[in-house]
Amino acid sequence: MTQNPPPFAPRGEALLHFRKWLRHGRSVAALTPSGQALSAASVSRVSSKDPQTIVELGAGTGAVTRAAAARMHPDSRLIAIECDPDFARMLEQTVPRAEAVCASAMSLQAILAARGVTQVDVVLNGLPTPSLPPAQRAAIYQAIARLPGRPWVSQLTVMPWVYLRFYRRFFEEVRFAPAWRNLPPAGVYHCRGLRCAH
Ligand SMILES: C[S@@+](CC[C@H](N)C(=O)[O-])C[C@H]1O[C@@H](n2cnc3c(N)ncnc32)[C@H](O)[C@@H]1O
Repeated sequence: MTQNPPPFAPRGEALLHFRKWLRHGRSVAALTPSGQALSAASVSRVSSKDPQTIVELGAGTGAVTRAAAARMHPDSRLIAIECDPDFARMLEQTVPRAEAVCASAMSLQAILAARGVTQVDVVLNGLPTPSLPPAQRAAIYQAIARLPGRPWVSQLTVMPWVYLRFYRRFFEEVRFAPAWRNLPPAGVYHCRGLRCAH
């Protein structure tokens, strides 16, 4: 039976997220896990009808992971990558339907190869992409660009429209979907056709 994700992150998750934000700031980027409205907007390219392979980058405590797991087809595969070991452990416990991987998204290619993944349909990107060091961002985008097919890359943000031009530099197609009910107002850049990694 599929369950709706809770409207807010459970208290333990929110507390851990806040502590990590205090310690790591820029790489965690948000004070709290994504709320229900933003998580739902992030997974709108996840299909309930067709089996897919879904890869999540920067899964945190699993707010978006839970929404994807609740929405996806029972035969879909969900690989959730998170570099922080405490977040990854929590992810493993709270979203057993996902394959939690504690690693940097920079190792995306190796992670997928080790799991025999040859096709990816959707990338859920929770990484703070604009504020990543350029070399790190380039490595991650190069790995995404090498994925076969033309996967949607759904990039969450708490800066509605601000980064439209930024993502248009990288992708042929960018559509912004606001999530007004999120606090603070947020949204998702749904991107496709990565040109090349700068
Ligand atoms: C803005 S938080 C998003 C968390 C979660 N997706 C959510 O929506 O609540 C960004 C997450 O990306 C993770 N992160 C940052 N750089 C990373 C990297 N290179 N590889 C994997 N995870 C990374 C951080 O540890 C953090 O959990």
